[in-house]
Amino acid sequence: MGLIPQSFIDELIARADIVEVIGLRVPLKKAGREYKACCPFHGEKTASFWVSPEKQFYHCFGCGAHGTVLRFLMEHDRMAFPEAVEELATRLGLDVPREGGDAATNVHRADESLYELMARVAGFYSETLARDERARQYLERRGLEPQIIERFGIGFAPNSWNEVLRRFGGNEADRKQLADLGLIIERDRGQIRDGERHYDRFRERIMFPIRDARGRVIAFGGRIIEQGEPKYLNSPETALFHKGRELYALYETRRARSNLKRLLIVEGYMDAVRLHQSGITYAVATLGTATTPEHLKRIFRLVNEVVFAFDGDRAGRAAAWRALQHALPEAREGREIRFLFLPDGHDPDSLVGEEGREAFEKRLETTLPLSEYLVRELSEQADLSHADGRARFSELARPLFAKLSEGVYRELLLTRIAGVVGIAPQRLNELWSTTGAPQSRTAMEAPPPSPTMRTTTQGRTRTSAGRGSLVRQAIDRLVRFPAIAAEVSAQERAGLEVCEEAGIELLRELLDDLRERPVQIPAQVIERWADKPGGDALQKLLQREEIVADAAAAAGELRGALVRLADIAAARRLEALEEKSRTIRLEPEELMEFQRLMMRKKPRDGGGS
Ligand code: CTP
Ligand code: MN
Repeated sequence: MGLIPQSFIDELIARADIVEVIGLRVPLKKAGREYKACCPFHGEKTASFWVSPEKQFYHCFGCGAHGTVLRFLMEHDRMAFPEAVEELATRLGLDVPREGGDAATNVHRADESLYELMARVAGFYSETLARDERARQYLERRGLEPQIIERFGIGFAPNSWNEVLRRFGGNEADRKQLADLGLIIERDRGQIRDGERHYDRFRERIMFPIRDARGRVIAFGGRIIEQGEPKYLNSPETALFHKGRELYALYETRRARSNLKRLLIVEGYMDAVRLHQSGITYAVATLGTATTPEHLKRIFRLVNEVVFAFDGDRAGRAAAWRALQHALPEAREGREIRFLFLPDGHDPDSLVGEEGREAFEKRLETTLPLSEYLVRELSEQADLSHADGRARFSELARPLFAKLSEGVYRELLLTRIAGVVGIAPQRLNELWSTTGAPQSRTAMEAPPPSPTMRTTTQGRTRTSAGRGSLVRQAIDRLVRFPAIAAEVSAQERAGLEVCEEAGIELLRELLDDLRERPVQIPAQVIERWADKPGGDALQKLLQREEIVADAAAAAGELRGALVRLADIAAARRLEALEEKSRTIRLEPEELMEFQRLMMRKKPRDGGGS
């Protein structure tokens, strides 16, 4: 068997949930934003083993064990690396690809034939669409082009009670599979007709195949042509399909772009398809359910920026509010959650059809951040011009606020809410915690500060002045927010070439690697560097508690550090040339370099502009 490609390991780390995997083996307790337990690697009575869902990283402050989810499986379950990869992949329903080799032998034979049957039925629906003039015309009227119909595998279920049954249900075993997949339905005892115990679920409907992350068809959504009830009929929950987990068009989204930065979450099949058709290839749809916490977990494994689009009508606003409530526990620094409300009478499908991609994407730039949406919505329920109304506002905000996990984001929102209420944030927090708040926190119950915080209360590593060297700071930001590597300009990168600070090589290597092969979360970086020089240093950095507001702030700090490093390098070089010029004559190139460096220095020294 060949090597497991690095890209697959990146993906595994991105999609696995370290808390879930470790939680199955060690009883974890939530403590603030992290989880803790008694360390499974050494005997202890008080918990010093911490798992960070954000970093996808574990660390024991007792024995020093640490690593990513893969490392955990290797150390804890004593698996070899390929086994650990296999274990994670299986959990996620992925096959482990091998470079230059055949796909690993599949352990899920039974499942495999279900997937295959789904694929064949989807093929049949596609063929039926190609033959059915009326269905094709319907889609044409809806503005869908043949190319997009093909990309999404859209089809048509014929107007028949037993076409699928007859074609694919030749024997009892086949019929059982069809029924298990929700493609045929068993009749009540008294209603068996022509010896057929089953009938087709989908009849005379446009069929949208729902695919899993690997592109396998796992379910269908069927839309009636023109009028009728129900408008959409979906596959039931099956062995392959769990509605609350899947996102329609996620596969197509991931296929369309290699570095996904944000996702646009819409409600309908047609919305997602039409957005993709118009070039907005990062749209996914929930499947007629509210956005579930599970959806959100998945989404934030992939991107840090999410925009929810909702219709401007009442139903849309209600759905948006539900989404907000589910999103609150996932909100935190480094993530952006925004809401787009469409003009009344429009859904994303109709709007993008009318105004096109550019105008639609403009709207995405002026969406409401979650915090503002929350404040706006609650303000409408309370008259803020009176003390009574502001008190009511505070009571409405309180249970929502309680859903947030500890951290900077929570503090900022507290400040925002306190501003509206008109009292000091600390006072509001005190009031909320002393009057039996939903998640009351007395001094006794307060979660302990995480151990790293305890070690840094002397204030040394907390202030930006004392954060260690510039190189170290730059590396730190890159490890925590690997995606920001893309924001470094070629010029900023070039400035590092002449730099001689300690650790600069690791910084250069890391930066180049992340620019070339971008990843999203810290654990992916750690896993890549696991066996390289500097890998340990990266892990150590990640174990420190650092407060960085978000990716944008981190990017700013990173670029600031790079510019200063370049300045320092330039200043050193200038000094060296000056020194040299005192004893011997400079070569012409050196003279030019000297002048260039002087120029570079001027504006700073001159002050003013
Ligand atoms: N939905 C569903 N069952 C229904 C109605 C809706 O599962 N009976 C889900 C579908 O996923 C649908 C989404 O909710 O795509 C949004 O519904 P709606 O806004 O009514 O439909 P549209 O997506 O706008 O579809 P169309 O434009 O074809 O009317
Ligand atoms: Mn619609």
